[in-house]
Amino acid sequence: MDSLVLLLLLSVLALASLVQQGEARAFFVFGDSLVDSGNNNFLATSARADAPPYGIDYPTHRPTGRFSNGLNIPDIISETIGEEPTMPYLNPELTGERLLVGANFASAGIGILNDTGIQFLNIIRITQQLQYFEQYQARVSELIGPDQAEQLVNQALVLITLGGNDFVNNYYLVPFSARSRQYSLPDYVRYLISEYRKILMRLYDLGGRRVLVTGTGPLGCVPSEIAQRGRNGGCAPELEEAAELFNPQLEDMIAGLNSELGADVFIAANTRLMQSDFVTDPQAYGFETSKVACCGQGPNNGLGLCTPLSNLCPNRDVYAFWDAFHPTERANRLVVQQILRGNTDYMKPMNLSTILAIDSRT
Ligand SMILES: *[C@@H]1O[C@H](CO)[C@@H](O)[C@H](O)[C@H]1NC(C)=O
Ligand SMILES: *[C@@H]1O[C@H](CO)[C@@H](O)[C@H](O)[C@H]1NC(C)=O
Repeated sequence: MDSLVLLLLLSVLALASLVQQGEARAFFVFGDSLVDSGNNNFLATSARADAPPYGIDYPTHRPTGRFSNGLNIPDIISETIGEEPTMPYLNPELTGERLLVGANFASAGIGILNDTGIQFLNIIRITQQLQYFEQYQARVSELIGPDQAEQLVNQALVLITLGGNDFVNNYYLVPFSARSRQYSLPDYVRYLISEYRKILMRLYDLGGRRVLVTGTGPLGCVPSEIAQRGRNGGCAPELEEAAELFNPQLEDMIAGLNSELGADVFIAANTRLMQSDFVTDPQAYGFETSKVACCGQGPNNGLGLCTPLSNLCPNRDVYAFWDAFHPTERANRLVVQQILRGNTDYMKPMNLSTILAIDSRT
């Protein structure tokens, strides 16, 4: 046998046994800017976080494309399951053995609907993210064989975060938006949920078997909305109403899917409640404020983007929000703590530590 072929064969066998021993639990991430780890750096879009001070508290202290001062929620989940952070799928360095760690397909600006975030031009819409997931599986198949690749995907942990932009960057983007003329808010929410259901079924068809599905945060209480639409310096009522309608219906839809599938495939993370805890009583969680962004300008530092010219707070750990929309690393850690250990008010039907315990037994 040609020595190169032999070498390739040996490395395929070594990689395959790595998967079989369950040493590596892959992690896949889908969604928007809350979970994008840098895909948009490779795209011609205005939705990007590739300039300082983004990343100021990241291990490298440089911007990476994450919409955070430091780590984002997927990074902290990776840390929790003892894995390297998943790389952006568009990063050309994501090849070979690195593929076995998983991949991050998320793209800032996207939503459940195709017309969400159109102002950002080239972003990876959710159907495209799922197509990339298929392509990823073909690549991994070449690396370790189709059976092992399927096993890797079936045993993986998956995270999907969608929905916020369908309100902020669609329905409420401009007064009299096309969608708000087409649908009342309750009808729009029902439409979003029915479209989201199809996306989750597609993820199941592609092999996802443990999928964390986050809801939206309290959309009206981010510094941007407080600054632009807040009532008496408080949260913006119409976006609060949107989150109040959307999140419980998402949980119901997920419960319905699981009973149809006869398995706890989808896990609903009540991120609205997780964030509301520190938004309503920031001091109890060691924050000085949840109303003012660390990086930004104007009222609440909530107007425009976070750029090198923005106001920047000296201590990010005492702010719940990093920029006008996105939590700080410290706030992200509080969210992941609840994903890991929260009771059924936070995690339905069970939390991540329970999932990890169950899955390690099978
Ligand atoms: C969104 O676009 C994709 C790809 O073009 C298409 O398959 C899908 O049906 C569209 N979704 C909706 C809700 O129109
Ligand atoms: C969540 O996790 C903790 C352990 O970390 C466990 O004690 C608790 O019972 C779990 N809650 C639920 C509802 O699964």
